[in-house]
Amino acid sequence: MQKSPAHPLLKFLVMSTTFFLVGTIHGVLQVIHPIRVWLDSIGSPYGGPGHMIDPLAHAHINMVGGVVLMVMAASYYLFPVLAGRPLYSHRLVQHTFWWTSLGVVGFYTTLMVFGVWEGLLYLENPDSVAEAHRYYPPVIAVVSTVMGVGFWCYFANIFLSVRTLYKNG
Ligand code: HEM
Repeated sequence: MQKSPAHPLLKFLVMSTTFFLVGTIHGVLQVIHPIRVWLDSIGSPYGGPGHMIDPLAHAHINMVGGVVLMVMAASYYLFPVLAGRPLYSHRLVQHTFWWTSLGVVGFYTTLMVFGVWEGLLYLENPDSVAEAHRYYPPVIAVVSTVMGVGFWCYFANIFLSVRTLYKNG
């Protein structure tokens, strides 16, 4: 018997669950005493390298990766049910998933790599952090934009779908 292809929104659910898995493990690790002491010694949660790990990386993998991806899937599923009309674009559904997911992976990895790297440098010699931090602004700007494109594809698809309701009456 031929297997039916997976529903296009299923991957949102799987990726959201995966991000929650990473985010909750991150959450538990950051309260384990030796790790907590290390994070506090590099500025978490107020600033410095520690701030990138806790709360920034932790907040975004859970809030954007976990919650927002699930909300995007739920609203893409609910729109046709509530409006009795199809979504404006299924291509934008794909773009929403890939830009948002790759953006979350890039944003989280950038914050964790620079957080740990600069944290180790800070404890060795605080003056050496600035040299490493020179690379952070362009990298975080690129991955933030990728994540932002995912949001903007979603907003465009929802608003254009709503517009079809009024355009075709
Ligand atoms: C393209 C999307 C997004 C980008 C590029 C982004 C970027 C950032 C940046 C750069 C900060 C740190 C500001 C600082 O240095 O203190 C921040 C803070 C924060 N963001 Fe986002 N963000 C995005 C979406 C979201 C969303 C959708 C949520 C929640 C649903 C969220 C929750 C938070 C929280 C809770 C903080 C504060 C963390 C803290 O300092 O306690 N972000 N975000």
